[in-house]
Amino acid sequence: MSEQDETGAAREPELGEFDAHTPNIARMYDYFLGGSANFVADREAAEQLLRAFPGNVEWTHINRAFLGRAVRACAEAGIDQFLDLGSGIPTKGNVHEIAQQVNPAARVAYVDIETIAVNHARQLLADNPLVTMTQADITDPGAVLRAPGVTELLDFGRPIAVLAVAILDIIDVADPAALVAAYRDVCVPGSALVISHSAMLDISEEEVGGAQEVFETTTTPTLRTRDHGEVLEMFAGYDLLDPGVVPSAQWRPDEPISEEYAARSNAYAGVGMLR
Ligand SMILES: C[S@@+](CC[C@H](N)C(=O)[O-])C[C@H]1O[C@@H](n2cnc3c(N)ncnc32)[C@H](O)[C@@H]1O
Repeated sequence: MSEQDETGAAREPELGEFDAHTPNIARMYDYFLGGSANFVADREAAEQLLRAFPGNVEWTHINRAFLGRAVRACAEAGIDQFLDLGSGIPTKGNVHEIAQQVNPAARVAYVDIETIAVNHARQLLADNPLVTMTQADITDPGAVLRAPGVTELLDFGRPIAVLAVAILDIIDVADPAALVAAYRDVCVPGSALVISHSAMLDISEEEVGGAQEVFETTTTPTLRTRDHGEVLEMFAGYDLLDPGVVPSAQWRPDEPISEEYAARSNAYAGVGMLR
């Protein structure tokens, strides 16, 4: 349910506002990860999503673990600047914590559209001059790339890792590869691209349909799976690090995993280095 204006018409919250009554994917994701930055409407929608697709909690943890391994790999490859698109509500294993474990001077510009995510991050990061949180819509690269939190923190004359993790599948854009390319085009060679994207690996059509119905009740009503080729296309201009675009649990796992577990990623993921 959206808020209403004085005439009773539905009114979408603007950037900086939030609607606690409409489920929100950032807050649902926080709930799945065991966080407390969520409201009743988010928890109810999250539980509904679990009834449609019981594997969702595992999906969330597999995704988050991929994000951690990918950030570490970028930092270990010498990249010390990160632009995290659709960063979410701060939780365990944040990008800046992982990157700064490898290089204490690493800089991270977080970007998210959701007010609670932005407010939480700003509180958490108030004392960290190497990390910013920008509220913006990542489907508008111009707005993101002009934001002071991005331009004043990151040096686009040096390599940057652009993170698009569990975000390109929930935004309403016809051509996500073109969106990714807009960010690629402001990066110098040696920059990285990290993507994870929902895919039908062991999830059924019925489960996806049920999940999509729940997404339709949220502030971001889109949920799209894509196949391996479509995710690969998003890496145009990049050389993929081994093992390429694979189920996210299979991307450089910390310990050997089974094919069954890999399939439960229900997402393809990869890391590319800009030529
Ligand atoms: C599923 S969470 C992923 C969080 C994090 N990237 C991760 O993988 O752990 C998706 C995030 O994208 C944000 N988001 C959705 N649409 C967005 C948009 N158009 N612009 C910026 N952020 C958006 C949501 O608010 C949410 O925090």
